[in-house]
Amino acid sequence: MTDHAGGRVEILPVEGLPEFRPGDDLTGAIAAAAPWLRSGDVVVVTSKIVSKAEGRLVRVPSDPDERDAARRELIDAESERVLARIGRTLITQNRNGIVQAAAGVDASNVNLDEIALLPYDPDASALALRRGLRERLGVEVAVLITDTMGRAWRNGQTDETIGASGLRVLHAYEGEVDDHGNELAVTEIAVADEIASAADLVKGKLGGLPVAVVRGLEVGDEQSTARDLVRPADYDLFRLGTNEAIAQGRREAVLTRRSVREFTGDTVDPEALRRAVGAALTAPAPHHTRPVRFVRLRETGTRTKLLEAMREAWRSDLTADGFTDEQIEKRLQRGDILFEAPEVIVPFLVPDGAHTYPDERRGACENTMFTVAGGAAVQALLVALAAEGLGSCWIGSTIFAADVVHTSLGIDPSWRPLGAVAVGHPPEPLAPRPPRDLDDGYLEL
Ligand SMILES: Cc1cc2nc3c(=O)[nH]c(=O)nc-3n(C[C@H](O)[C@H](O)[C@H](O)COP(=O)(O)O)c2cc1C
Repeated sequence: MTDHAGGRVEILPVEGLPEFRPGDDLTGAIAAAAPWLRSGDVVVVTSKIVSKAEGRLVRVPSDPDERDAARRELIDAESERVLARIGRTLITQNRNGIVQAAAGVDASNVNLDEIALLPYDPDASALALRRGLRERLGVEVAVLITDTMGRAWRNGQTDETIGASGLRVLHAYEGEVDDHGNELAVTEIAVADEIASAADLVKGKLGGLPVAVVRGLEVGDEQSTARDLVRPADYDLFRLGTNEAIAQGRREAVLTRRSVREFTGDTVDPEALRRAVGAALTAPAPHHTRPVRFVRLRETGTRTKLLEAMREAWRSDLTADGFTDEQIEKRLQRGDILFEAPEVIVPFLVPDGAHTYPDERRGACENTMFTVAGGAAVQALLVALAAEGLGSCWIGSTIFAADVVHTSLGIDPSWRPLGAVAVGHPPEPLAPRPPRDLDDGYLEL
């Protein structure tokens, strides 16, 4: 494989091009201004003149406010999706997959009552220009159509390629070894963007020089187009802006929890558990109380002792109910998840601070009020665990075996167990599910 870099390159300005208007013959103008073009040259063309020649100019009011409003509407129309919104700046993806500010809708270098859109299909424009130059001048050149774009993490803009024909836009070094013996596993050079930027050093933004020619590279390719420079969404680690990613995470937090009943053998980071419990303890509670305690069964012996005692108590209950031994064994197996989960947390309700009432009715209501607060805290734990990427399942069994829990764990009998939460790493990463249809779950009176 060869290096993507040439030994020496020249960048030549194409001078004397006219101001372009819709319908003008761009190919003819470039051929006339650069009769010296040679096969192997890369002709780098600012997208603005392609837009103008292709009639991608929109008439707008020249009043600055009205022009700005029109510009916003055009950005909407040109955007397939908005990836980030930072103040007034929109980062969008257009129909060709190009991600940039404002969908490339541009009010510079056009009349004050006009706005330029990007060429409709810049790869097609590049191909047409290349064929046209071949016909007029008999040369086999490559053509790049460029636009000025900002870059994440770095100040300043550079020119990049939005349309390409006749040039290998990417040069992958995968599998190559450098002089020191290092394998270049991930190096893939965006050759077309490097050429676009280099050409801009000659073209500039103010001098009326929209075309430059890069000579001396050997980068010809028939198949490659600027589309190849668009990173597929699935491989894009930074698809969304920070605010959008946070908002999506918030929206999906509750939806990412689901009951996970199988776990990988990986251990759970105790710090992740502590963070999740810390979040769960912020759950609402009556009278400014903190009525919930989460107990992590850290020692396997403690857990086994509790679960086996609960199993025996359940066995007695089922025997008393008249179930056969076979039926009983089948039921008891349902409790296995707590034996096998990497971690088990037992939530307790400690209704310290609950009000006392002279009558039973209000006492029962107070009890319900604290119980629902316990439920809120457990749900908060499950959601917080999911946010840590951990799977969980809330198992109700300890609610039915409070005495056994108190004795096995040596816990104060006033603490009411609220089940147990099995925790571990899910076999597949957790993904949010869609919200439920409201159906009869939501009424408006
Ligand atoms: C208080 C309570 C007790 C539960 N007990 C059990 C249980 O003993 N075993 C079990 O597999 N799931 C148990 N679950 C989980 C439910 O079965 C589960 O939430 C329900 O099927 C809905 O599925 P999802 O959590 O994935 O949305 C319990 C859930 C709650 C809220």
